[in-house]
Amino acid sequence: ATIRREDYAPFPWRVAATHLDFDLGLEKTLVEAKLTLERNPDAESSPTIRLNGDSLKLVELRCDGEPNDSYAMEGDDLILTLPGDAHELTIVTEIDPASNSQLMGLFASNGMLCTQCEAEGFRRITFFPDRPDVLSVYTVRMRAPKAQFPVLLANGNCTAQGEEGEYHWAEWHDPWPKPSYLFALVAGDLVARSDSFTTMSGRQVALNIFVREGDLERTGHAMESLKRAMAWDEETFGREYDLDIYNIVAVSDFNMGAMENKGLNVFNTKYVLADIDTATDGDFDAVEGVIAHEYFHNWSGNRVTCRDWFQLSLKEGFTVLRDQLFSQDMGSAPVKRIGDVRVLRSVQFPEDSGPLAHPIRPDSYQEISNFYTSTIYNKGAEVIRMMRTMAGEEAFRKGCDLYFERHDGEAATCEDFVKAIEDGTGLDLEQFRLWYSQAGTPKVTVALSHEGDTATLELAQEVPPTPGQPDKRPMPIPLKIALFDRASGTHRGEQLVVLDSASEKLTFEGFAAAPVLSVNRGFSAPVRIERDVAPADLTFLAARDDDPFARYEAMQDLVVGHLGDVVAGGLAAEEREAGREAIRTALAAVLADERIDDQMRGELMMLPGESYLMEQSLVADPGAIHAARETLKTWLGRELVEELVALHERASQAPGTLDAAAQGARKVKTLALTYLAAADPERASQMAAAEYDGATTMTDRQGALMVLASLDTAQRTAKLLDFYNRYRDNDLVIDKWFALQASSLHPQAIEHVKSLRNHGDFTLRNPNRARSLYMAFAGNPHAFHAASGEGYRLIADLILELDPVNSQTAARFVPALGRWRRIETGRAALMRGELERIAASSQLSRDTHEQVSRSLG
Ligand code: ARG
Ligand code: ZN
Repeated sequence: ATIRREDYAPFPWRVAATHLDFDLGLEKTLVEAKLTLERNPDAESSPTIRLNGDSLKLVELRCDGEPNDSYAMEGDDLILTLPGDAHELTIVTEIDPASNSQLMGLFASNGMLCTQCEAEGFRRITFFPDRPDVLSVYTVRMRAPKAQFPVLLANGNCTAQGEEGEYHWAEWHDPWPKPSYLFALVAGDLVARSDSFTTMSGRQVALNIFVREGDLERTGHAMESLKRAMAWDEETFGREYDLDIYNIVAVSDFNMGAMENKGLNVFNTKYVLADIDTATDGDFDAVEGVIAHEYFHNWSGNRVTCRDWFQLSLKEGFTVLRDQLFSQDMGSAPVKRIGDVRVLRSVQFPEDSGPLAHPIRPDSYQEISNFYTSTIYNKGAEVIRMMRTMAGEEAFRKGCDLYFERHDGEAATCEDFVKAIEDGTGLDLEQFRLWYSQAGTPKVTVALSHEGDTATLELAQEVPPTPGQPDKRPMPIPLKIALFDRASGTHRGEQLVVLDSASEKLTFEGFAAAPVLSVNRGFSAPVRIERDVAPADLTFLAARDDDPFARYEAMQDLVVGHLGDVVAGGLAAEEREAGREAIRTALAAVLADERIDDQMRGELMMLPGESYLMEQSLVADPGAIHAARETLKTWLGRELVEELVALHERASQAPGTLDAAAQGARKVKTLALTYLAAADPERASQMAAAEYDGATTMTDRQGALMVLASLDTAQRTAKLLDFYNRYRDNDLVIDKWFALQASSLHPQAIEHVKSLRNHGDFTLRNPNRARSLYMAFAGNPHAFHAASGEGYRLIADLILELDPVNSQTAARFVPALGRWRRIETGRAALMRGELERIAASSQLSRDTHEQVSRSLG
C-alpha cells in the first residue's frame, strides 16, 4: 500500500502517559503497556482507535480495567472501539527477541537485549499509535535475571531499582514527551566509561558509554567527541542538554550507524570503538561525526520532532548539516567540505538521476525504511546549507533560534522550518521551497565571454525530469563566484550570485584582459556545473585558486574532461597527449606545493571515482571507464615515479600520532603507493609489504594491505593471512579484512568474494559483516560490472538470501542493480534480468519489493 503525504491527518487520540513493564528474557519477553488515552481536541473524532502492531503475540487486553475482546485485527493493526473521551488501555504482548533477525523492535545481540524503534520498530514491542506525531511521557519498569543482565537502561533518569532473589528491576522515567520511535531499552552485561559535562547553565550531566568488557579501552575517543559536541552546540547553536544523564550503548548487530533515542543513544560498535591499532584515521573521524550527529538530534529531532515520516529531512538534513559544520570546526574545514561533496556526488547524485530519485520531502512511499537515503540526509543538508549561505551565518542562527523556540515540544514539518528561517533571516524563500518538492540534480551551464573592458557571464539552469516529475521549474541556485586576473593570479573578491531563472546574463566591468572564472566556490549549491572552459584555465585554477574546494574542483574537472574524451574516442593522439600532459603538470605541482598541508594534498591527488565518472554520461560503459582511469593512473605513476617515491619517503618519517600533520602524512603515503602500484607493481609490493610490517597504526597497515590486496604477488597472500591472524578476535577489523578483498583491483576479485562467502567468520546475520563483503563488492566497479554479469548475479543472490533474514539491509543492495538504464545495453540487460529474477520471488519483503519494482519502473 502506498502512503501519501497529502493524506496526513492528526491522530484522534492523545497518549498522555505510557507505562511499560518488561519481564525480560532472550527467548521470551513479556511487555505490559498501560496507555492513558484522551481524545485529541485538534483531530476529527473517531469511535475507534488504531494501534499498530507487527509480529506481536497478544496475551491480554483490558480497557479501564475490564478484559476486552471486542477488538478487530486489520492486517497487523489492532482496532478497538472506544466510546468515551478518556480511557486506560492495558495491553500485554509476548515477543521473542532472540529470533528477531530484522533487528527492529527488541532484539538480542551477543547475549544482550536492545531496541531500535525508528522508524516503525516500536510496533514490534507493543500495540501503539506508532507515528511520530503522538508524543507521550514514558515510564519504564524492567525486570531481568541479575547475573545475565546486570545493567538495565531506558530513556531519561533511573528513578528506582531493587532486587528480588535472582532477579533485579529498575524503573526509568523520561520527563520529556516523545514519539515512540525515540523509545529505547537496553539490558546486558556491560561496563561503562563514565565522565561528566557541565552545561552552560551549570547543569552537571553524567556521561556513560556502555560496551562489552574487553572494549572499554577503545571508548576514549568517543567520549572526548561527545564532550566536544556538547560544548560546540552551546557555542554555535545555543543548544543545551536537558537531562542529568546521557547514555550511549554500543551493539555489534545494528542496521544503521546509530540512533538518537532520548538520553539513551544506541550505536553500532563501528561508530564508538576506536584506537590507533584498530581504527583508521577515517574511522576516528566517523566516530566523532556520528557521536556528534546523534547528540545534535537531541534538539533537531527530539525536542522538535517530525509530524510524519515525509518530514524526515527536517531532522536528518538539519542534523547532518550540524554535524558537518561541527567536524569542519574540529579539523580542516576545506578537507571536510571536499569529503562531504565527494559522498554527495558518488552516492546522492546517482540516486537523483536514477529510478529511485525522490525529493528531500517525498510525496509517497511504501516502506519508510527505504527513505533513509543520501537524498534525505546529504542533499537535505545541502539545501539548508544554501539557506545559510544566502542569509549569512548570523541571520541563519536567528532563524534556527526562532525555529527551536516556536516548535519546541512539537512534531513539526519542513514547511515550519523554512518559515522560521524566512521569518528569522528576512529572506524570501517562496521560490526556494521548490528544493523541497523537486527531485533531480540541477544542471547549470556556465559561459564567460570577454569584449573590450567587459566580462559577460551567462548562466542557465535546467532541472532534469525524474520519475513522476516530468516538468520542473527553475530554482534559486546560490553560486559563489570570483573572477581571477590571469597575470597577477588574484581576484577582486568573492560574490554571491543567485540564479533564480532559467537563464541570466551578468556583466563585470573593468577587465582589460579576459579573466578566469571560479564558480560554485565552496560547492555553494548542490548542482552539476557544465562550464565551457579551456584546459589552460582549469590548470590555472588547479594551481592558483584560493578557494580550496574550487582548486580541487578544477583538478577533478581536468581529469573528468580527459577521461571523458578518452572513453568517447575519436580524439587525435596529440589532443589526448595534451590532455594528460596538463594533468601531469597539475599533479606534479600538487606534489611539490609547500603551501598546502598533506590532508589537502591528498584530496588533490585523488582521481575522481568511477561512480562519479559514470554519472557524467547518459549511458556509461563501466569497462571503458575503468580501463581509461587505470591507464591514466598507471601513466601518471610512471611519469612521476621519483616525486611519488620522495613523497612516500618524506611522509614515512611522520610519527604514528593522531595530529593533523601525521594523519595527512599517512593519507599521501597510501595515495603515493596506489599510483606506484599501478606503475610498478613489483616495487610497490615490496614497499607496501615493508610498510605493513613496520606499521604502528591501522591507517598504515590497512593502507598497505589495500595496495597489496590488488596485486598478484606472494606478499598479498602472506600479509592477508597475517592480518587475519593478528585481528581474528576483533570483529570490526575482520570486517575490514573482508572489505579489502571485496573491493580490490585484483582480477580474481569475484572468485575471492565467492570463497569468502563460505569463510567461517562470514554471516548474514550481522549487518556489518554482510556489508563488509557485499557492499564493498557492489562498490567495486571492475568486479561488480564484470561483462559476464557474474557480479550482478552475486548481488541478486545475496538480496534473495538476505531478504528473509534482514529485509532492511537486503533492500539497500537493490540500488546497485537499479542503475541499469544508465549502463550500456549489454550490461543493462543483465542487470535488468537480475532485478526481474528478484521480482519473481513470491516471498519478497515490502522493503525489497518496493525497491525492485521502482527500479524496474
Ligand atoms: N535516526 C538515525 C540517525 O540518523 C537513523 C536511524 C534509522 N533507522 C532505521 N531503521 N531506518 O542517526
Ligand atoms: Zn540522524
